[in-house]
Amino acid sequence: MARDILATLKDEHEKLRKLFEEMKSTTDRAVKTRADLLEEIEANLIPHAKWEEKVFYPAFKERADRDGLQTHAEALAEHHAVEQTVIPEVHAAEPGTPDFAGRTKVFGEFIDHHAKEEEKTMFKMAREMFSAEERAQMDEEYEQWKASPDAERMVQAEKAKAVAKSSAGAMRQ
Ligand SMILES: [Fe+2]
Ligand SMILES: [Fe+2]
Repeated sequence: MARDILATLKDEHEKLRKLFEEMKSTTDRAVKTRADLLEEIEANLIPHAKWEEKVFYPAFKERADRDGLQTHAEALAEHHAVEQTVIPEVHAAEPGTPDFAGRTKVFGEFIDHHAKEEEKTMFKMAREMFSAEERAQMDEEYEQWKASPDAERMVQAEKAKAVAKSSAGAMRQ
């Protein structure tokens, strides 16, 4: 079967859903497991989200009609909410606490909602907008980018930002 960026992004959503399920089944005593799972979630989510923002969403926007533009705006607003609020709140909690359990649960719910909207609406539109060749090409470029130092730098920068925001928030409380 030919490669397809939409299939790849969907597989990555699945992977994230599984990781959040694992997180939900941990207890407050599983401090190390929770910290490791959060690391893994971020290592999977950040390249995915950043590449969508840098490459996929702009390409989608360029060809979108009125409904597509609204879908694009919704998706971007959800990315921002997760980046600005949801992730910093997770980082402001200690992994061995009910706070952490509650906030990672909300994090997972946001991601699941967002992924569903992408799959049901945005990717459906994108299948009409981009030819099979274009989708295969994008998939290849995404794979190359993920393996690049640029992607690694971006993950580190985003994590640092989340930690900085969480401590700024803690000081205000
Ligand atoms: Fe997204
Ligand atoms: Fe996505």
